Amino acid sequence: MKNSKPSKIRLDKLLGALGYCSRKEVTVLLRAGIITHTKNLPLKSDTKVSHEDIRFGGEPLDPPQGIVILMHKPIGYICSHDDSEGKLIYDLLPDRWNRRDPKISTVGRLDKDTSGLLLLTDDGALLHRLTSPRHHVAKVYEATLERPLRGDEMEIFASGTLMLNGEKAPCLPAKLTLVDETHVTLEITEGRYHQVRRMFAAVGNHVVALHRSSFGNLTLDDLKPREYRFIKEAEYQTLSGDIGYLFT
Ligand code: URA
Repeated sequence: MKNSKPSKIRLDKLLGALGYCSRKEVTVLLRAGIITHTKNLPLKSDTKVSHEDIRFGGEPLDPPQGIVILMHKPIGYICSHDDSEGKLIYDLLPDRWNRRDPKISTVGRLDKDTSGLLLLTDDGALLHRLTSPRHHVAKVYEATLERPLRGDEMEIFASGTLMLNGEKAPCLPAKLTLVDETHVTLEITEGRYHQVRRMFAAVGNHVVALHRSSFGNLTLDDLKPREYRFIKEAEYQTLSGDIGYLFT
Protein backbone atom coordinates (compact mmCIF):
# COMPACT_ATOMS: atom_id res chain seq x y z
CA MET A 1 0.00 0.00 0.00
CA LYS A 2 2.91 2.35 0.65
CA ASN A 3 4.28 4.06 -2.45
CA SER A 4 7.77 2.71 -2.33
CA LYS A 5 9.97 1.83 -5.30
CA PRO A 6 9.90 -1.94 -6.00
CA SER A 7 13.24 -3.35 -4.97
CA LYS A 8 14.85 -6.71 -5.54
CA ILE A 9 15.10 -9.17 -2.71
CA ARG A 10 16.31 -12.76 -2.33
CA LEU A 11 13.55 -15.17 -3.32
CA ASP A 12 13.74 -17.22 -0.10
CA LYS A 13 13.62 -14.06 2.00
CA LEU A 14 10.65 -12.70 0.06
CA LEU A 15 8.58 -15.90 0.36
CA GLY A 16 9.57 -16.43 3.99
CA ALA A 17 8.52 -12.89 4.93
CA LEU A 18 5.15 -13.36 3.22
CA GLY A 19 4.55 -16.62 5.10
CA TYR A 20 4.47 -18.92 2.05
CA CYS A 21 7.17 -21.29 3.27
CA SER A 22 10.34 -21.46 5.29
CA ARG A 23 13.47 -20.28 3.56
CA LYS A 24 14.63 -23.94 3.42
CA GLU A 25 11.45 -25.15 1.69
CA VAL A 26 12.00 -22.84 -1.28
CA THR A 27 14.38 -25.23 -3.05
CA VAL A 28 11.86 -28.09 -2.88
CA LEU A 29 9.02 -25.88 -4.11
CA LEU A 30 11.18 -24.57 -6.97
CA ARG A 31 11.94 -28.14 -8.04
CA ALA A 32 8.23 -28.99 -7.90
CA GLY A 33 7.46 -26.03 -10.17
CA ILE A 34 5.25 -24.34 -7.59
CA ILE A 35 7.37 -21.20 -7.49
CA THR A 36 7.87 -19.68 -10.92
CA HIS A 37 8.97 -16.46 -12.64
CA THR A 38 6.52 -14.64 -14.93
CA LYS A 39 9.17 -14.58 -17.69
CA ASN A 40 10.21 -18.18 -16.98
CA LEU A 41 13.65 -17.03 -15.82
CA PRO A 42 15.59 -19.66 -13.90
CA LEU A 43 15.26 -19.25 -10.14
CA LYS A 44 17.32 -20.36 -7.16
CA SER A 45 16.54 -19.62 -3.55
CA ASP A 46 19.11 -16.83 -3.44
CA THR A 47 18.09 -15.21 -6.77
CA LYS A 48 17.26 -11.53 -6.32
CA VAL A 49 13.73 -11.00 -7.60
CA SER A 50 10.98 -8.40 -7.78
CA HIS A 51 7.80 -9.24 -5.88
CA GLU A 52 5.58 -8.75 -8.94
CA ASP A 53 7.58 -11.21 -11.08
CA ILE A 54 7.00 -14.23 -8.85
CA ARG A 55 4.09 -16.67 -8.96
CA PHE A 56 3.23 -19.23 -6.30
CA GLY A 57 1.08 -22.07 -7.60
CA GLY A 58 0.51 -19.88 -10.67
CA GLU A 59 -0.94 -17.03 -8.59
CA PRO A 60 0.54 -13.57 -7.91
CA LEU A 61 1.96 -13.19 -4.41
CA ASP A 62 0.10 -11.58 -1.52
CA PRO A 63 0.83 -7.85 -1.25
CA PRO A 64 4.22 -6.89 0.18
CA GLN A 65 4.70 -5.20 3.53
CA GLY A 66 2.45 -2.18 4.08
CA ILE A 67 -0.95 -3.86 4.07
CA VAL A 68 -3.97 -2.50 5.92
CA ILE A 69 -6.88 -4.87 6.47
CA LEU A 70 -10.37 -3.73 7.39
CA MET A 71 -12.23 -6.46 9.28
CA HIS A 72 -15.75 -6.73 10.61
CA LYS A 73 -14.85 -8.18 13.99
CA PRO A 74 -17.43 -10.62 15.27
CA ILE A 75 -18.38 -10.88 18.94
CA GLY A 76 -16.46 -13.58 20.84
CA TYR A 77 -13.03 -13.03 19.30
CA ILE A 78 -10.15 -11.35 21.07
CA CYS A 79 -7.55 -8.95 19.75
CA SER A 80 -4.47 -10.77 21.00
CA HIS A 81 -1.73 -13.01 19.66
CA ASP A 82 -2.00 -15.21 22.78
CA ASP A 83 -4.20 -18.20 21.94
CA SER A 84 -4.46 -19.32 25.56
CA GLU A 85 -7.01 -16.51 25.96
CA GLY A 86 -9.65 -17.83 23.54
CA LYS A 87 -10.58 -17.40 19.88
CA LEU A 88 -8.30 -14.88 18.18
CA ILE A 89 -9.27 -12.49 15.43
CA TYR A 90 -6.08 -13.67 13.67
CA ASP A 91 -7.73 -17.11 13.33
CA LEU A 92 -10.07 -15.46 10.82
CA LEU A 93 -7.17 -14.65 8.48
CA PRO A 94 -5.44 -17.16 6.16
CA ASP A 95 -2.74 -19.12 8.06
CA ARG A 96 -0.11 -17.77 5.70
CA TRP A 97 -0.86 -14.18 6.72
CA ASN A 98 -0.19 -15.09 10.32
CA ARG A 99 3.30 -16.25 9.39
CA ARG A 100 4.20 -12.91 7.82
CA ASP A 101 7.19 -10.96 9.03
CA PRO A 102 6.66 -8.21 10.04
CA LYS A 103 3.65 -9.52 11.87
CA ILE A 104 0.10 -8.29 11.25
CA SER A 105 -1.30 -6.59 14.38
CA THR A 106 -4.55 -4.90 15.26
CA VAL A 107 -4.69 -1.11 15.33
CA GLY A 108 -5.81 -0.77 18.93
CA ARG A 109 -8.26 -3.33 20.27
CA LEU A 110 -11.93 -4.09 20.50
CA ASP A 111 -13.15 -6.08 23.52
CA LYS A 112 -14.19 -9.69 23.11
CA ASP A 113 -17.83 -8.61 23.42
CA THR A 114 -17.57 -5.70 20.99
CA SER A 115 -18.17 -6.10 17.26
CA GLY A 116 -17.38 -3.84 14.35
CA LEU A 117 -14.67 -2.14 12.39
CA LEU A 118 -11.19 -3.31 13.23
CA LEU A 119 -8.04 -2.39 11.34
CA LEU A 120 -5.01 -4.63 11.10
CA THR A 121 -1.65 -3.76 9.62
CA ASP A 122 1.95 -4.87 9.32
CA ASP A 123 3.06 -1.25 9.00
CA GLY A 124 4.56 -0.38 12.37
CA ALA A 125 4.78 3.35 11.68
CA LEU A 126 1.12 3.56 10.64
CA LEU A 127 0.10 1.49 13.66
CA HIS A 128 2.00 3.78 15.96
CA ARG A 129 0.53 6.91 14.47
CA LEU A 130 -3.05 5.64 14.44
CA THR A 131 -2.87 4.60 18.08
CA SER A 132 -0.77 7.48 19.37
CA PRO A 133 -2.67 9.66 21.88
CA ARG A 134 -1.35 12.70 19.99
CA HIS A 135 -3.41 11.78 16.92
CA HIS A 136 -7.10 12.03 17.55
CA VAL A 137 -8.72 9.74 15.04
CA ALA A 138 -12.52 9.81 15.41
CA LYS A 139 -14.17 6.46 16.15
CA VAL A 140 -17.94 6.00 16.22
CA TYR A 141 -19.58 3.37 18.44
CA GLU A 142 -23.19 2.24 18.49
CA ALA A 143 -24.19 1.29 22.02
CA THR A 144 -27.24 -0.40 23.46
CA LEU A 145 -27.78 0.67 27.06
CA GLU A 146 -29.35 -1.22 29.94
CA ARG A 147 -31.26 1.83 31.17
CA PRO A 148 -32.75 4.87 29.42
CA LEU A 149 -30.53 7.95 29.44
CA ARG A 150 -31.10 10.26 32.37
CA GLY A 151 -30.59 13.45 30.33
CA ASP A 152 -27.24 14.99 31.27
CA GLU A 153 -24.95 12.48 29.54
CA MET A 154 -24.56 14.44 26.31
CA GLU A 155 -23.34 17.49 28.18
CA ILE A 156 -21.04 15.50 30.48
CA PHE A 157 -19.42 13.62 27.61
CA ALA A 158 -18.98 16.82 25.60
CA SER A 159 -17.48 18.72 28.52
CA GLY A 160 -14.03 17.15 28.48
CA THR A 161 -14.17 16.81 32.27
CA LEU A 162 -15.39 13.23 32.71
CA MET A 163 -12.92 11.29 34.85
CA LEU A 164 -12.77 7.52 34.56
CA ASN A 165 -11.87 5.34 37.53
CA GLY A 166 -8.13 5.05 38.01
CA GLU A 167 -7.24 7.65 35.34
CA LYS A 168 -5.30 10.87 35.85
CA ALA A 169 -6.69 12.92 32.95
CA PRO A 170 -10.31 13.51 31.97
CA CYS A 171 -11.71 12.08 28.75
CA LEU A 172 -11.47 14.36 25.75
CA PRO A 173 -14.83 15.76 24.60
CA ALA A 174 -16.99 13.07 23.01
CA LYS A 175 -20.15 13.45 20.94
CA LEU A 176 -23.23 11.54 22.06
CA THR A 177 -26.14 11.20 19.63
CA LEU A 178 -29.47 9.71 20.64
CA VAL A 179 -31.17 7.12 18.47
CA ASP A 180 -33.84 6.27 21.04
CA GLU A 181 -34.00 5.93 24.83
CA THR A 182 -31.53 3.06 25.04
CA HIS A 183 -29.69 3.28 21.73
CA VAL A 184 -26.99 5.88 21.11
CA THR A 185 -23.93 6.57 19.04
CA LEU A 186 -20.81 7.92 20.68
CA GLU A 187 -17.91 9.50 18.82
CA ILE A 188 -14.62 9.47 20.71
CA THR A 189 -11.12 10.40 19.62
CA GLU A 190 -9.16 8.40 22.17
CA GLY A 191 -8.66 4.69 22.68
CA ARG A 192 -8.57 4.10 26.42
CA TYR A 193 -9.12 0.66 27.84
CA HIS A 194 -12.87 -0.24 27.64
CA GLN A 195 -13.48 3.47 27.18
CA VAL A 196 -17.07 3.48 25.99
CA ARG A 197 -18.25 0.98 28.59
CA ARG A 198 -16.44 2.91 31.34
CA MET A 199 -17.85 6.26 30.20
CA PHE A 200 -21.40 4.94 30.51
CA ALA A 201 -20.56 3.27 33.83
CA ALA A 202 -19.35 6.69 35.03
CA VAL A 203 -22.83 8.12 34.40
CA GLY A 204 -24.62 5.22 36.09
CA ASN A 205 -25.52 3.14 33.05
CA HIS A 206 -24.37 -0.14 31.56
CA VAL A 207 -23.56 -0.98 27.94
CA VAL A 208 -25.20 -4.26 26.94
CA ALA A 209 -24.07 -4.27 23.30
CA LEU A 210 -21.32 -2.34 21.55
CA HIS A 211 -20.41 -2.05 17.88
CA ARG A 212 -17.82 0.20 16.20
CA SER A 213 -19.23 1.54 12.96
CA SER A 214 -16.41 3.80 11.81
CA PHE A 215 -12.74 4.59 12.25
CA GLY A 216 -11.62 7.90 10.76
CA ASN A 217 -13.17 7.96 7.31
CA LEU A 218 -13.53 4.22 7.10
CA THR A 219 -16.84 2.39 7.44
CA LEU A 220 -17.79 -1.27 7.22
CA ASP A 221 -20.24 -0.81 4.32
CA ASP A 222 -21.53 -4.27 3.42
CA LEU A 223 -18.82 -6.34 5.15
CA LYS A 224 -20.45 -9.05 7.26
CA PRO A 225 -19.12 -10.24 10.63
CA ARG A 226 -15.89 -12.27 10.10
CA GLU A 227 -15.33 -10.75 6.64
CA TYR A 228 -12.36 -8.56 5.81
CA ARG A 229 -10.76 -6.81 2.88
CA PHE A 230 -7.68 -4.75 2.10
CA ILE A 231 -8.35 -1.05 2.26
CA LYS A 232 -8.29 0.76 -1.06
CA GLU A 233 -5.61 3.23 -2.09
CA ALA A 234 -8.03 6.17 -1.74
CA GLU A 235 -9.09 5.01 1.73
CA TYR A 236 -5.44 4.69 2.69
CA GLN A 237 -4.79 8.24 1.56
CA THR A 238 -7.68 9.65 3.60
CA LEU A 239 -6.81 7.53 6.61
CA SER A 240 -3.23 8.67 6.36
CA GLY A 241 -4.46 12.22 5.82
CA ASP A 242 -6.40 11.98 9.09
CA ILE A 243 -3.13 11.77 10.90
CA GLY A 244 -0.86 13.64 8.51
CA TYR A 245 0.88 10.41 7.53
CA LEU A 246 2.57 10.35 4.11
CA PHE A 247 2.19 14.12 3.96
CA THR A 248 4.91 14.82 6.50
N1 URA B 1 -14.79 0.97 24.23
C1 URA B 1 -15.11 -0.17 24.86
O1 URA B 1 -15.65 -0.14 25.96
N2 URA B 1 -14.84 -1.33 24.23
C2 URA B 1 -14.29 -1.41 23.03
O2 URA B 1 -14.07 -2.51 22.51
C3 URA B 1 -13.94 -0.21 22.39
C4 URA B 1 -14.20 0.97 23.01
